[in-house]
Amino acid sequence: MAKPGGPFKTPPSRTLPAPAVAVQAMTASKRSHIPAFEVMRITDEIANRRADGHDVVSLCAGEPSARPVPGSIKPAGYTGPLGTMPLREAIAGHYRDWYDLDVDPTTVAVTTGSSGAFQLVFLAAFDPGDRVALASPGYPAYRNILTALGVQVVEIPTGPETRYQPTPELLDQAVQQHGSLAGLIIASPANPTGTMLQREELARLALWCRARGVPLISDEIYHGITFPEPGSPDPRGTSVLSVEPEAIVINSFSKYWGMTGWRLGWAILPEDLVAPLEALASNFALSPPAPAQELALTAFTPETYAERDQIVEGFARARALILDAAPQLNWGTAAPSDGAFYYYSELGPQLARFENSVDYARALLERANVAIVPGVDFDPVAGKQAVRLSYAAGEAAVAEALDRIIRFQNAG
Ligand SMILES: Cc1ncc(COP(=O)(O)O)c(C=O)c1O
Repeated sequence: MAKPGGPFKTPPSRTLPAPAVAVQAMTASKRSHIPAFEVMRITDEIANRRADGHDVVSLCAGEPSARPVPGSIKPAGYTGPLGTMPLREAIAGHYRDWYDLDVDPTTVAVTTGSSGAFQLVFLAAFDPGDRVALASPGYPAYRNILTALGVQVVEIPTGPETRYQPTPELLDQAVQQHGSLAGLIIASPANPTGTMLQREELARLALWCRARGVPLISDEIYHGITFPEPGSPDPRGTSVLSVEPEAIVINSFSKYWGMTGWRLGWAILPEDLVAPLEALASNFALSPPAPAQELALTAFTPETYAERDQIVEGFARARALILDAAPQLNWGTAAPSDGAFYYYSELGPQLARFENSVDYARALLERANVAIVPGVDFDPVAGKQAVRLSYAAGEAAVAEALDRIIRFQNAG
């Protein structure tokens, strides 16, 4: 006898007619075979663990928790592909205020975060097959975007001897090994190390590039989040434009201004690159986000600078907590960070108990509910021994996380 059927009874199986044309499996392009940005994946995992009721302290994401308050939602139209002229002028004014530099507003391109600027600038400056150098460890998206664009990445291994920054000598070695370069990307303060290039070091790199006609791209996204010695000549960071007017600057409202989710950044371009970049931007993004551009007009007032500088003072206190706790952490060599909100360190003696930094970070999250980033995101080889802590989450989160890390390690 047939069972009485409820509303959810299994439907009888049906045989679908074979399609007239065989359906091909969709194959992803070769250029899309790049690693994901691990930090963003861990961010999802943290959200899931929190949704499951775990009290997770995250020293993972590089984003300040103090953010500007959005206004009411208004309809907003497209703007020009390189942004509104009032914002481009305001950005140029920022270079006068902070760096005593004259920037022509028509050379400023407003973009969807600095991430949007990388895509457009790399497209405008490089062709497939070009070789572009960058420091390792370094921000993974440089490497991954370049790879997706068919550009050959030349990694310059760096360590404490050069404060994890490239030097002309390291570039000479890279050219000997790989051939001539079509570009150099630098970052100061850098992610993940927080180390900075002093004016003379920047000038030497710029001279090396100029002598060889190599475009120089400087990521200055962490400018303003700096911990300078008293009397330092460039307390906000040295802009590459102070030593090389033909260099390309990339910057963003994400870090110093805490506007990560508004997706707004900018590039300052040599004149020859403005029209190509405008053509690319008008096709790729049409325009940068209009409401974000409106909010960003308030970024360059004395009140906003004062407000954001107070946040940076909080980062300095969080950084001091980590530096003070370093002996108890009992890790290995740490990068001498002068800016950004990162502490990048080898795990040293801790690796006696864990295979590598990925295993260490996983165990720390599972057993102590502290999220940190294994170094492999920033350096696929030496990063197996290192981790990055972000202290953007502030003093209280850092104090709690340090306490949990030390207890986790002592528990064995
Ligand atoms: C060095 C560096 N550059 C660029 C970015 C991208 O930032 P956004 O696209 O939000 O401007 C980041 C984000 O973490 C970063 O660390």
